[in-house]
Amino acid sequence: MAGVAALRRRERERLARQQELARLGELTAGLAHELKNPLSTIKLNLQLLHEDLAKFPAAEASLARVGTVRKEVDRLSATLDDFLRFAGRIELNAAPVELNGQVRDLIDFFYPQTQTAGVRLYASLTAANPICRLDANLFKQALLNLMLNALAAMPTGGELIIRTHVAGAYALVDVSDTGTGIAPEVKTRLFEAYFTTKKGGTGLGLATTRRIIEEHGGHISVTSEPRRGTNFRLELPLVRPAAQT
Ligand SMILES: Nc1ncnc2c1ncn2[C@@H]1O[C@H](COP(=O)(O)OP(=O)(O)OP(=O)(O)O)[C@@H](O)[C@H]1O
Ligand SMILES: [Mg+2]
Repeated sequence: MAGVAALRRRERERLARQQELARLGELTAGLAHELKNPLSTIKLNLQLLHEDLAKFPAAEASLARVGTVRKEVDRLSATLDDFLRFAGRIELNAAPVELNGQVRDLIDFFYPQTQTAGVRLYASLTAANPICRLDANLFKQALLNLMLNALAAMPTGGELIIRTHVAGAYALVDVSDTGTGIAPEVKTRLFEAYFTTKKGGTGLGLATTRRIIEEHGGHISVTSEPRRGTNFRLELPLVRPAAQT
């Protein structure tokens, strides 16, 4: 576990990030409102235009153009939604839950995807049955981002291992893969919003995950060895100290 000085620094950094995000969240709420309404009006009118044009056989080219505009509008609203998920106000709907149960639900949900990707999925969940105060939906979103990244790091298959354990006042969740690993210059930027090395990636996955975990009073860290694999660790405060295992 981290030493006292490291814990203080961690807490200072977390508070600074939280303040920055709170400021951003206020600006964002206004902007989002201003953008969302016109976007849905545009969407609706494009749909009507599409229906009108479809009645005229000669309007094929125009119909195709409307199709292109509709696709771009969808892309814009998806971009906006991604941004809002990261920078918007988060309202935690947290309640004490069994951490293992949440993890198991997500593993069941994710299993088919690992099969398709030729990845073996293992789970090792502590018998200590840790109870944490979680917003189940947000927590699953945070964990899913890690599992998706792990899968993406193993394009030719490998092992994805999910472990839970208890250490002191925290429950730990480890998500480890036997994938590409992370180069040092990438590692320093991992949690930056919009940082991605993937074609088509938003780069908001880890930024969102960290935000969610820190809103829960938790912490995320990473260790990685290039070409061998990566381990992301979530630390979440326990509701009550469980028996150590
Ligand atoms: N398990 C991992 N193994 C190797 N590299 C990783 C792993 N997880 C994250 N990364 C690196 O961190 C970058 C940022 O990850 P993040 O989840 O924030 O965005 P992304 O995965 O690129 O995009 P998105 O989440 O929108 O699909 C990735 O592009 C990748 O380079
Ligand atoms: Mg990702």
